[in-house]
Amino acid sequence: MTVHIGAQPGDIAETVLMPGDPLRAKWAAEKFLDDPVCVNEVRGMLGFTGTWKGNRVTIHGSGMGMPSLSIYANELIRDYGAKTLIRIGSCGAMQSHVKLRDVILAMTSSTLSTPSSGIFRELNYAPCADYGLLQAAYTAADGMGAAIHVGGIYSSDVFYDERPDLNEQMVRHGVLAVEMEAAELYTLAARHGCRALAVLTVSDHLLTEEALPSEDRQSSFSDMVEIALEAAFA
Ligand code: HPA
Repeated sequence: MTVHIGAQPGDIAETVLMPGDPLRAKWAAEKFLDDPVCVNEVRGMLGFTGTWKGNRVTIHGSGMGMPSLSIYANELIRDYGAKTLIRIGSCGAMQSHVKLRDVILAMTSSTLSTPSSGIFRELNYAPCADYGLLQAAYTAADGMGAAIHVGGIYSSDVFYDERPDLNEQMVRHGVLAVEMEAAELYTLAARHGCRALAVLTVSDHLLTEEALPSEDRQSSFSDMVEIALEAAFA
């Protein structure tokens, strides 16, 4: 047990999928895993371990934002031995060629700060995805007929953003989309010698102000789980 995870040693698989929403973790575990067992419910942050095609997998919520993800990813890596961590989540598109429902594989993520910023001080550290996972996720998503974009994203600390000028610079510099977790996940994975990737679907568009209806969110979430599982065990 750790401060935030009630699982026993050995309850967590080396491969962990991390949706933001704990109820999505439950839904995905029940839909995709064989024999899912709930291994954490501390503070309502649900985690489940089961198997997919014979491979052990944990699906554990991260919560929203880098401070929350950082707590769970740190404990999953340091205390439970997680080695491959794949974020599955939604993002807001920042480029006109990126459309609602498209899949984004985040090669890198820009950020103003993460819980790790104190380490780097004046250095602009560039967090990046594991290339093997990225390539495998691309192959899986392509095989499913998804519209895929690979490139840089922006991990913001805020959903309600009072700095539209920053978003303008992101758009101007080709950043594909905004979300709130990937930069810290990539940084932690690098620090601890793990593999990480963020597989995202576009749920809203900052330029057109369109948003996905909730039933489409469920099906795009399902596609991301499949892409992440295929990539993890490719
Ligand atoms: N901003 C930040 N995070 C997000 C967004 C957004 O517009 N959409 C989905 N996650």
